Amino acid sequence: MKERNLALELVRVTEAASIACARSMGQGKPNYSDQLAVNAMRAAFDSLHIAGTVVIGEGERDEAPMLYIGEEVGRRAGPDPEMDIALDPLEGTNLCAYGRPGALSVIAMAPRGCFLNAPDIYMNKVAAGPAGRGVIDIEKTPTQNLANLADAKAVEIEDMTAIILDRPRHEELIHEIRGAGARIRLIEDGDVDAAIATCKSDSGIDILFGIGGAPEGVLAAAALQCMGGDIQGQLMFYEDRERERAHQVMGDDADIEAVFTRQDLAHGEILFAATGVTSGGMLDGVRFYADGCRTHSLVMRSKSGTVRIIEAVHNFEQKPHYTLEGFHQKMDAIE
Ligand code: FBP
Repeated sequence: MKERNLALELVRVTEAASIACARSMGQGKPNYSDQLAVNAMRAAFDSLHIAGTVVIGEGERDEAPMLYIGEEVGRRAGPDPEMDIALDPLEGTNLCAYGRPGALSVIAMAPRGCFLNAPDIYMNKVAAGPAGRGVIDIEKTPTQNLANLADAKAVEIEDMTAIILDRPRHEELIHEIRGAGARIRLIEDGDVDAAIATCKSDSGIDILFGIGGAPEGVLAAAALQCMGGDIQGQLMFYEDRERERAHQVMGDDADIEAVFTRQDLAHGEILFAATGVTSGGMLDGVRFYADGCRTHSLVMRSKSGTVRIIEAVHNFEQKPHYTLEGFHQKMDAIE
């Protein structure tokens, strides 16, 4: 199957995961929300014409029953291409469970070896849209990055907005950015959506700073590679076991202290799909009606740089598993 068509196939998988967990929005049950998305995504993979291997997933085989790292997914028939897959069936679990903006279902796919085997630890990140390509530098201070990006955009620092996860660990960072004069948008979760927002000209977001998950750094890099933005990341080690974990995943000789560029995090011909679960900066959440539901997705390919926004209407008559009854059956299967 042509890569072009595959991208459109991929979005069916994120749509399925989003619809499944969106029914649980605001129910205050993060684990259920996550499980609903995982189950639906896993099932939807079976019809995809690929021989896929999950490289960024729900965890190790012993800690995740499905979509674990190393799991083989897809139809896996003769001509199906071998692909590596980075995924998060529900990025922003708490955003969905507590009905807050910005939860997504997300998948990036590329030929074997194109994604960094990022360990499930923290990563310090800086990301910006196309104007920041080759301008942002994680080894420089946030103030220097703001000044350089402001120059590249021909605006004042005060005109720019930095997006940051609202965490105590970012207290100093926030203090410095306030001192530099930039505006700040604090978010509760979801730094993949936040990184994508830096590439959307009318999002009002210029730059992402701060520490989030390393797997999310790979997903963000895949998206930014398609959208022409830039990202750099550095793994954070708070305990020895995190270093051990990084070597275990990345190899004994890996330079785990390195600055990982956008290319290190994700390169090659990338396909990326994300579907909104709850409405956020880029995508609307799932809406349910009497006879169907509507999803809002982003589909991108790094080769063409085309960004497609797809609004899909799913008819319950043809897709009974998306109905309320279908949802209750899925919930019962988890309980
Ligand atoms: P989940 O989808 O696993 O809930 O992750 C949400 C998230 O906010 C990510 O977007 C971010 O990278 C990470 O968690 C930050 O981790 P923490 O909540 O531990 O600060």
